[in-house]
Amino acid sequence: MTETPSRDTVDRVTRRRYIAGAGAVATVAVAGCSDDPEVGEDDGAGDDDGAGDDGTGNGGDADEGDLEIVHWWTAGGEEEAYNALLDGFREQHPDVEIVDNPAPGGAGSAIDTVIQNRVLDQNPPSTFQIWPGQALTPYTDEGLLEDIGDSVWDDEMREAYLDDIVELSRPGGDLVAVPINIHRLNNLFYNVDVLESADVDATDIDDPQGLMDALQAVDENTDAVPMAHQTQAPWSTLQLFEAVFLGQQGTDDYLSLVDGDVEGLEDEVREALELLAEYADYYPEDAGSISWDQGNDRLIEGEAAFLHQGDWAAGQYEGADGFEFGEDWEMVPFPGTDGVYHSVIDSFVFPTNNPSPEATEQFLNYAGTVDAQERFNPIKGSIPPRTDVPNDEFGPFLTRQIEDFDNSNTQPPTIAHGTAVAPAVQSELEEAFANFNDNRNVDTAYEAIRDAF
Ligand code: GAL
Repeated sequence: MTETPSRDTVDRVTRRRYIAGAGAVATVAVAGCSDDPEVGEDDGAGDDDGAGDDGTGNGGDADEGDLEIVHWWTAGGEEEAYNALLDGFREQHPDVEIVDNPAPGGAGSAIDTVIQNRVLDQNPPSTFQIWPGQALTPYTDEGLLEDIGDSVWDDEMREAYLDDIVELSRPGGDLVAVPINIHRLNNLFYNVDVLESADVDATDIDDPQGLMDALQAVDENTDAVPMAHQTQAPWSTLQLFEAVFLGQQGTDDYLSLVDGDVEGLEDEVREALELLAEYADYYPEDAGSISWDQGNDRLIEGEAAFLHQGDWAAGQYEGADGFEFGEDWEMVPFPGTDGVYHSVIDSFVFPTNNPSPEATEQFLNYAGTVDAQERFNPIKGSIPPRTDVPNDEFGPFLTRQIEDFDNSNTQPPTIAHGTAVAPAVQSELEEAFANFNDNRNVDTAYEAIRDAF
């Protein structure tokens, strides 16, 4: 029997790939996302963390020295995870006044513009949620994030973190971010009963085209929506395009794509878009007006069969009463992507001109601890970027995800969640997929993707 590689071994083996993708594009223009925040997600009201909670991420209510945190974790179980993190922090720092300031909207669809304006205006919050990697570059290029290489990243922390994740935290050289989780994006979740009624075995679906056949079977044999996909905001379709492309072509071509070789991959890009246009027949009728977690609710209720989504969707299942992993819901890697751990990472940063330097440093220090990552990740549906967090709290699904990560051949970065491309490119791609959601026009989408890179 071969020995299972440790997370560190896997990490070293695949490091070159990861960095190749993460360093793909050097565009640095500051660009806001074009889409509106999705409705349906919690508006952030009702928490007990004090002021600042106007649901926009704008500042205003924090006093000097208060820890103002801007984030978008208000949907489907994410708020509980975030609150668990704050509870842990409060236990260690009871004197710090936390001003919770969410800007709801899946994949940060509402946060970019407001944060960029605030940071550029030198009126930043104490810290904010951001993907490490290319998403940081508009800030690091302008020197708007403090180097926390000494103050926060001590030797103990560096040793404990996966090397790749440390690298993503310093796109400009200095360490500027503290990653707190690793989500997997290439999941295909499903409702077990619905698939049984449809006579579909998800483990038999070998490639993205096979998923099309399964969607057809669900449509013919049940009343359920085959795929609980949302198109209100474009990021979910962009990430589905990534999954289809990865499933059809594999990681090497995917990394060439994020490196910008769209023309060299024209046929492959078109092939993915064509299948994506066919999937769209099987989305909910109201896909254009629901959020990702509202789509996921339908899977939980047995009204939908499949969902392609990051494993934040599993965080929502954990919070749903009587909806058990294995019995009621399951997940297979998106067809064709076995051995791939398509990673989405969240982190917190220390903006310059910080309103609460002491509290911010305390919070970032805490976010990098075992305690923080052990509280946050099991609820969030993610796995820790530290290698020394005990597995006990992670439950069967996330324990399997940890094993899958350890055994994965590659962990490519994502476009839709900011690690692989700079915000300006991501923003143009989102616009391309917003249009594609409307018109399913492969030619126009191909040209827009080519131009975006
Ligand atoms: C991602 C983020 C996740 C989750 C998801 C859905 O971009 O990294 O933590 O919040 O969006 O909104």
